[in-house]
Amino acid sequence: TGCGTEAPVQDLFEVDSANVQYTPDFINTKYTYRTTAVSKNANGKYVAAPKETLYDFKVDRKIPKLGVMLVGLGGNNGTTVTAGIIANRRNLVWETKEGPRSANYYGSVIMGSTTKLGTDSKSGQEINIPFHDLLPMVHPNDLTIGGWDISGMNLAEAMDRAKVLEPSLKSLVRKEMALMKPLPSIYYPDFIAANQEERADNLIPGSKAEWAHVEQIRKDISDFKAANGLDKVIVQWTANTERFADIIEGVNDTADNLLKAIKEGHEEISPSTVFAVACILDNVPFINGSPQNTFVPGSIDLAEKHGAFIGGDDFKSGQTKMKSALVDFLINAGIKLTSIASYNHLGNNDGMNLSSQRQFRSKEISKSNVVDDMVAANTVLYKEGEHPDHCVVIKYMPAVGDDKRALDEYYAEIFLGGHQSISIFNVCEDSLLASPLIIDLVLVAEMMTRIEWKAHGADAKYAGFHSVLSILSFMLKAPLTPPGTPVINSLAKQRAALTNIFRACVGLDPESDMTLEHKLF
Ligand code: NAI
Repeated sequence: TGCGTEAPVQDLFEVDSANVQYTPDFINTKYTYRTTAVSKNANGKYVAAPKETLYDFKVDRKIPKLGVMLVGLGGNNGTTVTAGIIANRRNLVWETKEGPRSANYYGSVIMGSTTKLGTDSKSGQEINIPFHDLLPMVHPNDLTIGGWDISGMNLAEAMDRAKVLEPSLKSLVRKEMALMKPLPSIYYPDFIAANQEERADNLIPGSKAEWAHVEQIRKDISDFKAANGLDKVIVQWTANTERFADIIEGVNDTADNLLKAIKEGHEEISPSTVFAVACILDNVPFINGSPQNTFVPGSIDLAEKHGAFIGGDDFKSGQTKMKSALVDFLINAGIKLTSIASYNHLGNNDGMNLSSQRQFRSKEISKSNVVDDMVAANTVLYKEGEHPDHCVVIKYMPAVGDDKRALDEYYAEIFLGGHQSISIFNVCEDSLLASPLIIDLVLVAEMMTRIEWKAHGADAKYAGFHSVLSILSFMLKAPLTPPGTPVINSLAKQRAALTNIFRACVGLDPESDMTLEHKLF
């Protein structure tokens, strides 16, 4: 399990097709990608033409020994995901007032959900397999965890501070957690709320961007890799939400300008961008789990130049996940959504940070655009430029701790002037929803480092996917996509893309749900 040098991978299934070839190291696939090309003819009529593109995919079957480094390791998400992985690795069972509970990966699409492989050739029944078995993926129990925090608390104390986990579970992981202490991090006070200053006691010197910070982070990553004998590391930002950085010509608009601006100590470069740059330079995938614009144009440009993977922004855990499913349902059912009012209150440190206006603004932006594509796609319900009213409010309410409340009212126009109101009251521990997403993002990003493609038959060399990993969208509120490409927010479409790209890599067609075999007799 998990170690690259061990015996060959035991796959749950194999594909029996002339287009798919297994070697001990690779799965090689010839794949026909079928799309529909649309143009307008002289009469203004759409002409839709089926189009086929042939690709060769190559999947590296060797599962690496993987490390994950979290920026914000000592926070609610950082401590919860770490304790959760330890609990799973050790198969822990703990007492609660409702009886014993055991470790699981509920809430992880990769570890907790299944996907249809196909139809049983005899019984005609669906065969579903764990998502994790679609491709040779890392198991989260095998992850080595580390990272940085501006607060130097060890993770046992930090998990107490987070107030997320049951005392009985904490007591079982305490010893191991106490040995883990976050590395010092960079802290530029202007970027996060002033109310965070008190915990900032574990710092790399300096209060604005400098090249030594980039070098320190690169060194931290390579030291972590060496100390733990890792093949690869993925870095994820789960630290406080920062304010947006201004995009300034000559400063953060191109790769070269960004590097220069860091070297010159420009004040408008955020800590998260410095982390991103350090990772990109060493080809370490970097994912941003918070809403701020870490990926200023210069950092995307830099990632493209280095062929390094980046993904973001902002974990999509509760209210927005619901929104991207519900709005998809309403608008695709032909119901005209006219307003969404979203209120939140929460009492954890994230909430305290967001009680500051500039940091709230980052969250407001990332929460606001999630219905745009679905609205724009329905030209029957909405005229060009027409949009439902959409308002997002977040309040800090210390008493509720990590148990975030999200109240939503969806108001829609139905047949013949009628109305439909849907009210949702969503309560849950925020970090228990976000932690499995952290795992999914790591597993999928890692998998993407082992998939290559080329145009079929061409002499061209195999290449990786685009630097901006939009395949991670299912887990993210404001999905970053390659410049100039559409953003897809619909949860169902995001999951279908993830599933079908993974299927393509083993030479299987997209799952269309037509089930003609049951409809034509
Ligand atoms: P938290 O406030 O408990 O943890 C953040 C940690 O980051 C703190 O320990 C803080 O000391 C540390 N930190 C701040 N600046 C840092 C820096 N420059 N370098 C290293 N460490 C730094 O917050 P929580 O609840 O863990 O959330 C983390 C982030 O994830 C927040 O930005 C939040 O908005 C975002 N998020 C969380 C979701 C959830 O459901 N929990 C959902 C969507 C996004």
